[in-house]
Amino acid sequence: MKQADVTLFHPLQDRIREILLPSQVLQDRIRQVAQQISADYAGQEIVLLCVLKGAMMFTADLMRHLEPHVVLDFVAVSSYGSATSTSGVVRIQKDVEEQIAGRHVLVVEDIVDTGLTLHYLLANLRLRNPASLKVCCLLDKPDRRRVEVHVDYLGFAIEDRFVIGYGLDFDEHFRNLGYIGIMEEDFV
Ligand code: IMP
Repeated sequence: MKQADVTLFHPLQDRIREILLPSQVLQDRIRQVAQQISADYAGQEIVLLCVLKGAMMFTADLMRHLEPHVVLDFVAVSSYGSATSTSGVVRIQKDVEEQIAGRHVLVVEDIVDTGLTLHYLLANLRLRNPASLKVCCLLDKPDRRRVEVHVDYLGFAIEDRFVIGYGLDFDEHFRNLGYIGIMEEDFV
C-alpha cells in the first residue's frame, strides 16, 4: 500500500472496509479524462464549476492536466436527508460568481447517485443561457438513479456502496483521504 493510500490517526479508520480505488488508479484515470476534455475544448475557454465540497480534490487534480484556458468557480448545493442518502430537496447554498451566459460551462461533481442534485443544478444553470453545459463526474452509481442525468465525462462507474475519501465524506469525515474507500455496512 502506498503512502497516499494510508491515513494514519484517523479516529474512524477501522470503519473503512476496503480501498476501492487507490490513489494511483484515480490519478491515472483523471489524467485520461483531462486529455479528453482538453481535446474537446481545444481553443475554447472553460468555466470549470466545482461543486463543493466533495468535488474539490477531483477538480484540483483534473484542472492541472487541462490545456485550454480555465476559469474556476464554485457552487455549493445541499440536499436534505440523512448522512448517506438524499431527500431530493436541493438548495443552492453558495451561488456561482462568474457570469455564465454565452460561456462554456463544465460542472465538476464528485458522484452521481440518485441524480437529483445534479438534475436540479443543471436545470438552474441552464436558465442562465451558457453557450454549452457539460458534466464531468468522478464516480457514478447507476443502480441508484431516480432521475435521468447525462454525464459527459466519467471517471468510474461503481456498485451501489457508500464510498468515502478523495473529497467524499461520511458526516464530514474522510474527505482528506487520497483514495476512495468503502465504509463498513454496519456503520452506514
Ligand atoms: P444524488 O443527488 O443522490 O445524486 O447525490 C449526490 C450527492 O450525494 C453527491 O454529490 C454526494 O455529496 C452525496 N453522495 C452520494 N453518494 C455518496 C457516497 O457513496 N459517498 C459520499 N457521498 C455520496
